Amino acid sequence: MSEKTFAYSNSNDFSPDLFIKWITVDGERNLATLNLVPGDSVYGEKLVKIDKDEYRLWDPFRSKLAGSIKKGLKNIPLKIGSKVLYLGASTGTTVSHISDIVGNNGLVFAVESSVRVGRELIENVASKRSNIVPIIEDARKPNSYFSIFGRVNLLYCDIAQQDQTDIAIENCRMFLEDGGTMLLVIKTRSIDVTKDPKKVIEEEAQRLKDNGFKIHQILTLEPFDKDHGLIYCTFENR
Ligand SMILES: C[S@@+](CC[C@H](N)C(=O)[O-])C[C@H]1O[C@@H](n2cnc3c(N)ncnc32)[C@H](O)[C@@H]1O
Repeated sequence: MSEKTFAYSNSNDFSPDLFIKWITVDGERNLATLNLVPGDSVYGEKLVKIDKDEYRLWDPFRSKLAGSIKKGLKNIPLKIGSKVLYLGASTGTTVSHISDIVGNNGLVFAVESSVRVGRELIENVASKRSNIVPIIEDARKPNSYFSIFGRVNLLYCDIAQQDQTDIAIENCRMFLEDGGTMLLVIKTRSIDVTKDPKKVIEEEAQRLKDNGFKIHQILTLEPFDKDHGLIYCTFENR
């Protein structure tokens, strides 16, 4: 699938046929995604009815992707039917919103290494959403993911490990389409507590450039997450 359309292409407006919206509730502008499982709230988020549709408010303090969009992420490389590889799925907070956005024709391969956390991901989220494929494995061993087929359009990585950039690059080499997008969350304290967080993010971005990625945007995530950044890049040279 060619994936060069984005959920929104300018400032803050989403295309009307996408499963993501800005919804103003009590005077506050919130992100929201069309609930794939009406009636089900995944992490206590508010459900909002608009005509016959139900939307789930997307909390930027609970999801770094929502925080990044609020901080001005230029493009969300997601559309109905996108295939996503998500490293560090945890209990499925962000995964569930991506699952809403890509809809039933899309797929989210959700990798989580902790068996306990993975059980929650399966019981609370993946078992109710047929477009999520849970993979309880270590992202350092991409050869062990047996359920991924074909290449994905987006790789999202949020594993908070010191070697996370190398892990993300290795997974992109195996599973991301040429020209595909990666969103890499950097928890600077996991990489080097002594260094200036901005410097840590710059160094990780340079490592990506050295490995064939084109950097499009670098964001810091305050006030939603302290000492975190997000790098938005595309995979240009395998
Ligand atoms: C910061 S949390 C992710 C939060 C999640 N992305 C969200 O927005 O809902 C990091 C997760 O990565 C997982 N993780 C850490 N190292 C990993 C690895 N090597 N492979 C897969 N998952 C890993 C942790 O168990 C944890 O659940």
